[in-house]
Amino acid sequence: MRAAIINKFGAPDVFDMDDIPEPSIGEQELLIEVVTGSVNPVDYKQRKGNHKFIFGSGFPIVLGYDVAGIVVATGRNVRQFKAGDRVCGVLSNKYGGGLAEYAKGAEKCFARVPENVDLYRSAALPLAGLTALQALRDKAKIKKNNKVLILGAAGGVGTFATQIASFFKAEIYAVASERHRSFINRLAKVNFIDYTQTNILRLGQKFNIVFDTVGKYDFLKVRHLLMPGSIYINTLPRPKILAHKFVSLFTRGKKVKTLLMKHDREDLEMLVRWVADGKLKIFIDKEFPLDKVGDAHRYIEEGHTEGKILIRYK
Ligand SMILES: NC(=O)c1ccc[n+]([C@@H]2O[C@H](COP(=O)([O-])OP(=O)(O)OC[C@H]3O[C@@H](n4cnc5c(N)ncnc54)[C@H](OP(=O)(O)O)[C@@H]3O)[C@@H](O)[C@H]2O)c1
Repeated sequence: MRAAIINKFGAPDVFDMDDIPEPSIGEQELLIEVVTGSVNPVDYKQRKGNHKFIFGSGFPIVLGYDVAGIVVATGRNVRQFKAGDRVCGVLSNKYGGGLAEYAKGAEKCFARVPENVDLYRSAALPLAGLTALQALRDKAKIKKNNKVLILGAAGGVGTFATQIASFFKAEIYAVASERHRSFINRLAKVNFIDYTQTNILRLGQKFNIVFDTVGKYDFLKVRHLLMPGSIYINTLPRPKILAHKFVSLFTRGKKVKTLLMKHDREDLEMLVRWVADGKLKIFIDKEFPLDKVGDAHRYIEEGHTEGKILIRYK
């Protein structure tokens, strides 16, 4: 099968198109013919070799977690899917394996995509959508009328987080630069804050939830923005997290948490249902063909994406 592979870690030009064997599936796995993928920051971090001490360097490596496509085979213990199903998912293999004509993943990684949802665009939903949902609902326990500050509201995770916070009827403060203002106003009713004009650390208000998708802040820097009993949550595991948790013991119940996305079929099904109902929108900033995935990496690495980046395979 055709795949975008890397044979070394490095810059966006390390990708090569090559023919490699199709993956073989286990009893609990699906094989899908991929129609689209989407790029997430984790993909370029892995391309650079940031995770090589955890996942190893068994080249050739096929990157890519988010995929959408058609099921072509199922393992004998798969119960929820059959050949021909339209699905999207976030792959559970180390390094993903999604940048190829065929990809495999565990059953829990996928959700069926109904006919009224664009299969191609659905590849942009799983990783960022699950992260936003699980951060706000499970970690932060978001409630009606909560004041929620979303740092990075125009990015992949932030776009979904802003919409999901509005489903919970939160009062949203969305942080991005001015050029995303009209885009963010299309996501939900928000108080827009341009971080190039306003020092976020000097906002004269306090919040129930600070959701930091950017990673330029930390609990120590923002704790004065939190009400007693409230929460700062980020998406980047930090070496100082234990020290910050210790400090949080002396901050009148303010908490610090890091979200690591969990594979959860029911959560992904809920996100797809919201899309099918027209409630949750998927915004695609740019599309690239599979053989130009290096350009997609170059673009997302600049750090100013508005929504998601899609990779088309055909
Ligand atoms: N732990 C997990 O399970 C998990 C899951 C998903 C993602 N993540 C991590 O979460 C982070 C965000 O992911 P993503 O997909 O949302 O990335 P992304 O789409 O690349 O985010 C880009 C956005 O960040 C915004 N941004 C940059 N600097 C900012 C600042 N100082 N203040 C406010 N916004 C700023 C940009 O807005 P401007 O153009 O206005 O600068 C842009 O819209 C990444 O580091 C990713 O690796 C972790």
